[in-house]
Amino acid sequence: MATVTPELSKNLINGKWVESTGRQTMPSMNPATGEVLGHVPKSESADVVAAIEAAKAAFEKWRKYPAPRRAEILFHAAELLVEEKENLARLMTQEMGKVLAETRGDVQEAIDMTYFIAGEGRRLRGYTTPSEMPNKAAYCIRVPVGVVGVITPWNFPMAIPSWKIIPALICGNTVVFKPATYTPLVGLRFAQILQEAGLPPGVLNVVTGSGGAVGDALVEHRDVAIISFTGSTETGLGIAQKCGRAGKRVSLEMGGKNAAIVMEDADLDLATDALIWSAFGTSGQRCTACSRIIAHSPVRAALTDRLVERARQLRLGDGLDPKTDVGPVVSDTQLERVHGYVEVGQKEGARLLVGGRRTAQGVLAHGSFYAPTFFDNVQPSMRIAQEEIFGPVTSIIEAKSFEDAVAILNSVEYGLSASIFTRDVNKAMRAVDDLFTGIVYINHGTIGAEVHLPFGGTKNTGNGHREGGLQVLDVFSEWKSVYIDYSGHLQRAQIDKD
Ligand code: UN1
Repeated sequence: MATVTPELSKNLINGKWVESTGRQTMPSMNPATGEVLGHVPKSESADVVAAIEAAKAAFEKWRKYPAPRRAEILFHAAELLVEEKENLARLMTQEMGKVLAETRGDVQEAIDMTYFIAGEGRRLRGYTTPSEMPNKAAYCIRVPVGVVGVITPWNFPMAIPSWKIIPALICGNTVVFKPATYTPLVGLRFAQILQEAGLPPGVLNVVTGSGGAVGDALVEHRDVAIISFTGSTETGLGIAQKCGRAGKRVSLEMGGKNAAIVMEDADLDLATDALIWSAFGTSGQRCTACSRIIAHSPVRAALTDRLVERARQLRLGDGLDPKTDVGPVVSDTQLERVHGYVEVGQKEGARLLVGGRRTAQGVLAHGSFYAPTFFDNVQPSMRIAQEEIFGPVTSIIEAKSFEDAVAILNSVEYGLSASIFTRDVNKAMRAVDDLFTGIVYINHGTIGAEVHLPFGGTKNTGNGHREGGLQVLDVFSEWKSVYIDYSGHLQRAQIDKD
């Protein structure tokens, strides 16, 4: 059982741990056991408004903190995260189910992001450039925008918030953070560590509760300048419409239908290892999960046999047990959704090769466990090959040629991550050119992005922004161009040319 301190049952507003004004709470549950880990505020719009007001007041001071000093706090936060890594990982496994190796990776990703972005405190580069006029200087700088609303999902309860909160802070913004409804405790603990590292009151505020109450209040409030959201395409596009009407900046990271191509010359052992990991790591609940395997005809049968054999061997269980390969999905609601897709696949005429059912024997009786599932005989146009399932269900689709495989891969409405297994450098490089996704992996599965490269996707996966990399700074800052005329007389740009 995780140690949940009393603070973690409250919102963080203006540096203080406070109950929701309505005093309502909601439970956080362990999806492997059904046990209740703690209760957090089921907040209402009054709580969100209080948090926004605190963030707005704190902004005036925080924006004037020199960025290298903001960075010192963030470096310290990274050190605290390193010290707390194991406890955080255990809490995360209990709150959302993925195995300890993966929750350690999630915390590590937050540590990586925090160190990486803290380093920007001494860079945050703009540039100087010559002016068109004599005796005139020109340069540009990044400036903060204001209050940022951060809305995040449960599958990476610490990494994804870190991708948004840390760059927002280094740029000099203040934040109101709504963690996912399924993972409030990890969200609150992350904020508590940032607070302990020395953030002034009001710079980071946390309000827990539902998307309908807390998320909407954040999106609709005029003093929130930016919304950064990761979650479903349906919710993201709804947020974008509201932000569009209000003229608010919005960064969206939404659905995926990622695929890996396996060509006839691929190393099939490597492809099998990588695809089992990409399909069933985090129980398939990654934006980057591989939910389509596009197999070149000559290797389709051999690859399928290997994948099915390996899927059968995967041990489901509590993520805290070192023998577990795959943890539960996050909730019964999510499990029903995943199973609904399995039924759709069968109705569409795809062939269920392995899995396709809830697993509830013995110690699994009280958890939301779903057996790793492969389909074959899948046509690219079927719903199971087009729509995001977000669970341990992957379709094997046959392609007759490289060109056919690329066309199938690109035939979906999403474009986050893609991969190809081949030993032919020409095909690998053509794949880099032709796969219309934000991430391309060669001889690896679709998961495993690193924080110092841009993360995001094309088409309905996003709206053109990137998280990670230095590109994320563009989401959280405005450019200011500065001109200094030291000629002592009027010089008219574009006019006084001679
Ligand atoms: C996600 O699923 O939204 O690339 C994030 C990966 C991880 C991050 C995934 N580094 O799989």
